[in-house]
Amino acid sequence: MTAIAVLAPPDALPLPVARAGGPRLLAGPRIDGGAEALAAYRARLGRRPIGGDWMLDVVERSGLRGRGGAWFPTHRKWRAVSRLAQERGPSVLVVNASEGEPLSGKDQLLVEKRPHLIIDGALIAAESVGADDVVIYVSRAARRATRALRHALAERRHDRISEPRIRIVHTQHRYVAGESSAVVRRVNGGPAKPSFSPPHPSERGVLGRPTLVQNAETIAHLALIARYGDAWFRERGTDAAPGTGMVTLSGNVARPGVYEVDLGTSLATVIGAAGGALSAPIGLLVGGYFGTWLGPERGAAATLCPKHVSVGCGVIGMLGRDGCGVGESARIVSYLARESAGQCGPCVHGLRAVGEAMTRLAAGDADRGDVIRIHRWSDQIVGRGACNHPDGAVNNLRTALETFAADVERHVSGHPCAGLGTTPLPAPPRSAFGWR
Ligand SMILES: Cc1cc2nc3c(=O)[nH]c(=O)nc-3n(C[C@H](O)[C@H](O)[C@H](O)COP(=O)(O)O)c2cc1C
Ligand code: SF4
Repeated sequence: MTAIAVLAPPDALPLPVARAGGPRLLAGPRIDGGAEALAAYRARLGRRPIGGDWMLDVVERSGLRGRGGAWFPTHRKWRAVSRLAQERGPSVLVVNASEGEPLSGKDQLLVEKRPHLIIDGALIAAESVGADDVVIYVSRAARRATRALRHALAERRHDRISEPRIRIVHTQHRYVAGESSAVVRRVNGGPAKPSFSPPHPSERGVLGRPTLVQNAETIAHLALIARYGDAWFRERGTDAAPGTGMVTLSGNVARPGVYEVDLGTSLATVIGAAGGALSAPIGLLVGGYFGTWLGPERGAAATLCPKHVSVGCGVIGMLGRDGCGVGESARIVSYLARESAGQCGPCVHGLRAVGEAMTRLAAGDADRGDVIRIHRWSDQIVGRGACNHPDGAVNNLRTALETFAADVERHVSGHPCAGLGTTPLPAPPRSAFGWR
């Protein structure tokens, strides 16, 4: 079954969370109100189950994959951290709500509006992987989310005696700050820059302890999977991509914002639920700044399933006829070059060179030799960074050059399109998040 969840119920009445086709993570009071209070949350969902070994099998059977971008099977990280915690002592859980992706708003929305879902999910996850220290990692710029979290933690001060301790750690609002080794470095008091792995955080992370870094949306799903079970989770979505997922729509669409949808839903259905495109789109960026550009035809045929297209962090950016795919990719790659943590030569110099060449191409000042060089430099950058930042940037670039091949030709022959740079994909306005 494919269903688009209504973002918020039409009135303030709580929706039963398991209602077929309805929202799961966003069920509850209206999203355009404040954070859901503890009393209302407990009235709706009851008290949380205590996490433990039993959850490892439930998570495996649920098929849950991480929603921070890589879609890594959650149970594999859990088993690794849990085993190391048994061998070496308590582990640490970090809820990654930093959301450095400019086109994404889902994690901040969840923390801001459903803080108790995040806290319950975090406590259950921590108990299941043997963690006695829970960190919620938030961008310093996310003030409303921080306020909601602090308030939610204060609401629970009486029942936290036997629970793992929870603390909030702030980070700079930078693209690479959410990369898992950067997360660990920042929580350890250093800069939010990736480190040269191995060891992976799951082996040696916060204070040298085994550390599970898990995206905020992934954690929110866990709070419900623990209550309702793996079979319930699989009632929605597809076999390959079970459950619902949060997507952030922006650009050339009538109602930009954050939506909860069944995984496997076609992009066309999601866009239709957001009021449709404002004009025929020339391209869709799926998965965020590290994501994949699709032309209108591929976009119309694609579904929100990692088997079809890398869903990444659930971003769908729509470029309208007044935009320019070449200019947009040039802008994004140049942005990602500036966001490099400045530690690896191929990332620092390679991305800068590619960004500059793309900017010349977008302006109609590049020749065929430049396009060949852009391809060659991209090949040389991939796999050469300490983290996946350069690979993600190159993915955006390569798919743009392929999707907008005809436009590249026009730019090379000195006829850049009129839309150049006039309508960069906007981040969805904060006020539009969940405002349905
Ligand atoms: C450059 C870079 C930036 C990232 N930024 C984020 C982020 O903002 N939030 C996030 O959850 N994961 C981010 N990730 C992915 C994390 O490294 C990590 O895989 C994720 O937090 C794990 O959670 P998950 O398994 O629940 O997806 C980023 C990865 C890279 C390479
Ligand atoms: S690849 Fe780039 S972002 Fe990643 S650690 Fe190296 S310089 Fe920093």
